Amino acid sequence: MLIKENRLQKRMNFKLQWYERLPSTNVFLKERLVLEPELESGTVIVAREQTAGKGRRDREWISSANENLTFSLLYKPDSIPWSIPSVSMAVAIAVAELLSLEGIEADLKWPNDVLVRGKKICGILSEGASEGIIIGIGLNVNMDETEQIDQPATSMLIETGERRDVDALLKKLLIHLEIWLTQWQQGGFPQVRKVWEANVPNLGKMVSVRDGDSQRQGILFGFGDSGELLLEEEGGVSAIWAGDVSTS
Ligand code: BTN
Repeated sequence: MLIKENRLQKRMNFKLQWYERLPSTNVFLKERLVLEPELESGTVIVAREQTAGKGRRDREWISSANENLTFSLLYKPDSIPWSIPSVSMAVAIAVAELLSLEGIEADLKWPNDVLVRGKKICGILSEGASEGIIIGIGLNVNMDETEQIDQPATSMLIETGERRDVDALLKKLLIHLEIWLTQWQQGGFPQVRKVWEANVPNLGKMVSVRDGDSQRQGILFGFGDSGELLLEEEGGVSAIWAGDVSTS
């Protein structure tokens, strides 16, 4: 049930719709788009609670009700000249920028994680839809130490000891998203590469990249124009398009 709706007058003309409970804001937005292809760019679906939150690679995204931000933004740029996965990298920069203003220094982890002290604080799931891009963001805001997550995780509360108003935080985050999505639309990943690389702590270091059963080791050389990871192995530098990176 839709519980609240309002518009933020900005260039992206965000239209926010809050729901008490949804299985997944990404799935809901995808289904809405099928029925309403005219749904405007800037539509933001926010769920106070997700009962079947989706992560990357069919993982679950666990987030307890009312404590954190779980939302999906519909983004319909005039054209999509850049590789869709790299949009998540621009989004991660926007989140890290907000966190920094909130007194939390975050690192970026390829392809689209935001970490603090090696623990995940935000996950991003961008999915192409025929009518645009669905950008799903889960940001741990008021999660406390007792919450059970299947991987090392943290929250803004854990990092600063302060609880935050989730709705007010969303509005702040949208400002940063607008800035970085505009950058991405203008020049794709190359336009945001400098900031991305400045916030990736394991650049130039030995890493392992695991993709299913395969695992490769090498030096994290950099990132290509589509946001692909460049791994330097004995035979040279190669591009990797998917996987989980860890410091080896
Ligand atoms: C990941 O790190 O694996 C990505 C997690 C993305 C979670 C967000 S929460 C809002 C949106 N709805 C979903 O079902 N998933 C994304």
